[in-house]
Amino acid sequence: MAENIVLEKLDRVFEAARAKTDFEPRVGLVLGSGLGDFAKEINVEYELPYSEIDGFPVSTVPGHDGKFIFGYLGGVPVVCMKGRVHYYEGYDISDVVLPIKLMIRMGIKTLFLTNAAGGLGEGFSAGDLMLITDHISVFVPNPLIGPNDDSAGPRFPDMSEVYDKGIRDKILKISYENDIPLESGVYCQLTGPSYETPAEIRMLKAMGVSAVGMSTVVEAIVAKHYAVKVCGISCICNLAAGISKNPLSHEEVQAAADEAAPKFTRLVSEVIKTM
Ligand code: HPA
Repeated sequence: MAENIVLEKLDRVFEAARAKTDFEPRVGLVLGSGLGDFAKEINVEYELPYSEIDGFPVSTVPGHDGKFIFGYLGGVPVVCMKGRVHYYEGYDISDVVLPIKLMIRMGIKTLFLTNAAGGLGEGFSAGDLMLITDHISVFVPNPLIGPNDDSAGPRFPDMSEVYDKGIRDKILKISYENDIPLESGVYCQLTGPSYETPAEIRMLKAMGVSAVGMSTVVEAIVAKHYAVKVCGISCICNLAAGISKNPLSHEEVQAAADEAAPKFTRLVSEVIKTM
């Protein structure tokens, strides 16, 4: 899609959202599987279902609701995305990142990404949390393809530190202080929807990947382009194919995400309160 069409759509959804609420969030939080109940932590000011925004992409995945939740977490104005859309659902990549651009247009200065992922890092177990230190994007379309939005950033944006070092250090400190074990590693986004083969997992392992999933990276690239600070945590919901002894299933992923939810929620909320 040409960038002017993409930008016009962003203008339209921004106006539609602003017609509903003038809330100005400082932090945007994308809730992956298992963090669905995070909204309980928030002093909710306004909820905006994606379906109420004309032309907005709506998730088709079971367990992925779709709405923005605006409110305060320990005094910090936040917007949460409860549910995201994925490339494998058939949306154009520009639609997959449209919600991120909308949150940026609404004023966020930091984007906090979370997801459910398969783990392949040494010593990882299902239920672990992993701080994302870097990513590999080469298996999915780059969301910046098309005419450059010069108001966002340069044509060839630097990606040498997508996940903000200062925030990463803070997350490590908070996890330590709260006795919440936290792994660190590189996340790789693949398109899905099929899970990986054992051979693909061996390839990713050789590339230095510790967690694999079907989201997050394209969102991080867009935010980085807009000079919004980015951080991310994966919930390792299963060991990746070939490492796990069992066939992978969405139900297993969701069950592990639900089990890790209390510590995940605690860590994310303690971090956001400091932002
Ligand atoms: N692979 C890809 N995406 C995933 C996985 C996985 O093993 N687990 C949760 N999301």
